[in-house]
Amino acid sequence: MPAAAQRPVQFAATAPAGSDLVLPLRNADHLGHAAAVLDDGSREAVRRALASADFDFERGSTLSLRGIGPWARILVMGMGQPPFEPKVLQDLGGTIAQETKGSREPVAVLLQTIPSAGPQAGLHVATGAMLGGYSFDRYKSADPKRPAGAEAPLVILGSDAATAQRYQREGAALAEGTNFARDLIREPANVLYPEVFVERTRQAFAGVRGASIEVLDVPAMERLGMGAILSVGKGSARPPRMLIVRYRGTGNNPLVGLAGKGITFDSGGISLKPGSGMWAMKGDMAGAAAVVGTVLSLAKSQAPVNVIGVAALAENMPSGSASRPGDVVRAYNGKTIEILNTDAEGRLVLADAVAYLERQFRPAAIVDIATLTGAVSTALGDEYAGLFSRHEGLAAQLSAAGTATGEELWRLPLHPNYAKDMKSDIADLQNVVEGGAPGAGFGAHFIGEFVASTPWAHLDIASVDNRSSALPTVPEGLSGFGVRLLDRFVRDFRPGASNPSLTAGN
Ligand code: BES
Ligand code: MN
Ligand code: ZN
Repeated sequence: MPAAAQRPVQFAATAPAGSDLVLPLRNADHLGHAAAVLDDGSREAVRRALASADFDFERGSTLSLRGIGPWARILVMGMGQPPFEPKVLQDLGGTIAQETKGSREPVAVLLQTIPSAGPQAGLHVATGAMLGGYSFDRYKSADPKRPAGAEAPLVILGSDAATAQRYQREGAALAEGTNFARDLIREPANVLYPEVFVERTRQAFAGVRGASIEVLDVPAMERLGMGAILSVGKGSARPPRMLIVRYRGTGNNPLVGLAGKGITFDSGGISLKPGSGMWAMKGDMAGAAAVVGTVLSLAKSQAPVNVIGVAALAENMPSGSASRPGDVVRAYNGKTIEILNTDAEGRLVLADAVAYLERQFRPAAIVDIATLTGAVSTALGDEYAGLFSRHEGLAAQLSAAGTATGEELWRLPLHPNYAKDMKSDIADLQNVVEGGAPGAGFGAHFIGEFVASTPWAHLDIASVDNRSSALPTVPEGLSGFGVRLLDRFVRDFRPGASNPSLTAGN
């Protein structure tokens, strides 16, 4: 059952009968490029409507016109000034999908009216439409007037065959990876717990060339000594899992390791959270969802990369078998942890995930991604995720991927003295610094204690995982942040970019 009703994207030479026609424009003169689909009279009618509406052609402004030519309506979309980078074109596609969500007509998009967007424009517009048109309707009763699966298509006009193929290979895979992550995040925690996350991932990867999946259950994690993730999961009736998804493309590329926090519900455990807003903690597996979504995107597009993703899955619940504040556990790498607060559980599951990634697979770099701290939202609001790394080259590559994709990162510090702050009286480390700031930095530092020598970075996405308002390619609510960023990062990854300051691990 699809989780969402969404217009399928198609590429064609001509518009279906009775379509809405979308005309992106940066000025009225470029209407001339629409001659193939709009006759002289229709173009003149559009020109007059634009003039009388005083249309400003700013990016994001729209004008809806009815009664011109054979079209159900003509939707003019302001483009602002070039350059029309991929992100701008994705935003155009997303805005079109959102603006036409309610209508039942097919939608035809003309791209000849923005000639400076280049021949690949259709790829990005189509990708943006699949991202921005996402919705999660699984638990809404069907509208009898709009049967599921009967959505009219969004048709990109006039792209060449190579662009259409590239969309099928790359754009569709990126949207599928992102929307797969969004589905996982939006599923309620009574439906999606660690074993179901694993099952959904197996289904998504079934038959994908170059991809493989491995799962560690509780006995396997016990044998390996993963006392940190086990301590988080043991209060729940739903057992934890360590899920490893691997994709190896053609070529001899350096291995990139990704680790995601996968708390399918975070009640706080015995250090119970307040009730208000606790429901949003069904999305506390957004990091793990971003990791499997990224690997899915790369694998489905058969990208020439080598990547391994670990999803550290557990449900954090209070019960008679739950961990208590003050408990001491031993992580996979042998370090002992005093759990002062059971609500700082993300860093615990990630401690085992990153240590396992490093020892077992020896990647050239490790990036973890997690809805780790409320503190990062206080610092950054909802436009930036927090980036922590002691490796300049890795930080620069992640920042560049963020800028290119619009999933932006802001670097925050990791002072060496955090190590002293996080020393425990009775164990090697404690999981929180009580009453201590900076909360996001301490969380980051803690995870870094479990990576011995591999270049490592931590992304705290608790600031961006839940949007209060939509962006063109991100519907309101739980966002699926990180798939586009990490997909770009892995494709562009270069190992060994120097880091003179990194001499004593992370
Ligand atoms: N999952 C939460 C962080 C979070 C908060 C994500 C709000 C999204 C929105 C995390 O496990 C947590 O509880 N963090 C604590 C850490 C504290 C106990 C050191 C926090 O931020 O309060
Ligand atoms: Mn928590
Ligand atoms: Zn959490």
